[in-house]
Amino acid sequence: MKIAMIGTGYVGLVTGTCFAETGNDVICVDVNEKKINELRNGNIPIYEPGLADMVKNNHARGNLAFTTDIGEALKKANVCFIAVGTPMGEDGSADLRYVLAAARDIGRNMVHDMYVVDKSTVPVGTGERVRSAIAEELKKRNSELKFDIISNPEFLKEGNACADFMTPDRVIIGSENPASIEVMKELYEPFIRSREVFIIMDVKSAELTKYAANAMLATKISFINEVANIAERVGADVNKVRHGIGSDRRIGYSFINPGCGYGGSCFPKDVQALIKTSSEYGYEAELLQSVEKVNANQKKVLGRKVVNIFGDDLRGKVFAVWGLAFKPGTDDMREAPSISLIRELVSRGAEVKVYDPKAAGMAREFYLKDIAVTYTDNKYDALDGADALVLVTEWKEFQSPDFMEIKNRLKGKYIFDGRNQYKVKTLEKFGLSYVQMGVR
Ligand code: NAI
Repeated sequence: MKIAMIGTGYVGLVTGTCFAETGNDVICVDVNEKKINELRNGNIPIYEPGLADMVKNNHARGNLAFTTDIGEALKKANVCFIAVGTPMGEDGSADLRYVLAAARDIGRNMVHDMYVVDKSTVPVGTGERVRSAIAEELKKRNSELKFDIISNPEFLKEGNACADFMTPDRVIIGSENPASIEVMKELYEPFIRSREVFIIMDVKSAELTKYAANAMLATKISFINEVANIAERVGADVNKVRHGIGSDRRIGYSFINPGCGYGGSCFPKDVQALIKTSSEYGYEAELLQSVEKVNANQKKVLGRKVVNIFGDDLRGKVFAVWGLAFKPGTDDMREAPSISLIRELVSRGAEVKVYDPKAAGMAREFYLKDIAVTYTDNKYDALDGADALVLVTEWKEFQSPDFMEIKNRLKGKYIFDGRNQYKVKTLEKFGLSYVQMGVR
């Protein structure tokens, strides 16, 4: 099939590349000229395991192209995906300006009938707004061209995006039009293990499914973080409690790891957007409001633990921070807990040295560009002369570090662990003091 992918970010680039991998002709469109030029030159603007090689191979084969010209892309395509950002607006709702701009662009530029697939995460009712925006533009052109809107929310996880896309747990198809459903099935067929993976529903239910999934996962995280906070106060160990409850198959172990709060480009904005949509329909989503509130507080817990030991005034103190990305396997720092933690340490006068295997560039360029932080190329270099190590992102390379090296490089003896990666006993052997989440 011939596909135009509008928006070449984490989702658009992965989706476009994976569709190219199975033999489709894909043109990725983006308004960001720098990004498109880089991609044309073989430079991949994001880190995602396995993606770079696939992009280069498909580009070289000629079935993955990049352009800033949507007209050029739509000339060839018969299926057009919208995969632009839907960031959080000032009032918490999803900002649909990019989605609607893309829709208008489609209406202005399409030259034959088109299947328009909404892959961006959008509030219920957006499918209709996209339909109207395209129809209005076609009317201005006196065009009789036909199009259909399909909702196809994306569930890939950053850090494992290509693998997730290639072997999806489910493919949601929001459409009641048999022809559209068939087109989507044909596109996804190579990726599915059985036809049951296709879940077909109306557009609105598909739109809500994406928010409900993210809200559920965020709820699990805030739930275990709340239990962690209770455990600390009553003198219990959340690691043991986690084990105890996860063994119940109705609960399971996934997404009940205590930590320093969820971040990323999806959970924070999607929970807020669902709260906002609910209130627009006269319903107060009290549970989701609490999920958000618990998370906002949780992002402060690690900093508070540092202050409890080192005091309010951190002038003259040096902290090594391991991990900047909001989770391992990505360079994405949107809403990452590391941002507020590092800002707090610096604002209290501390010197901060950070190491992250992939996200330092993002930090330097965007998220921490206004504050003085030292970046190191090696996790151990960050420790030299530091009073404590603070672990924020559980990258694999932090899981079994050389504790003797840590002990020798650190000036102090504390390890603050926002992800509960280690065992107290192991650290005690090295004379290190371990402060973790949910354990007094
Ligand atoms: P992103 O910010 O990485 O990429 C969006 C891209 O769209 C940018 O490159 C931007 O320049 C481009 N763009 C904006 N307006 C445009 C227009 N009119 N025409 C062409 N390009 C345009 O965003 P990301 O992370 O890829 O997210 C996209 C959507 O997918 C969002 O709705 C998000 O919630 C959803 N999503 C994201 C996931 C993730 O893990 N990042 C997972 C599942 C869904």
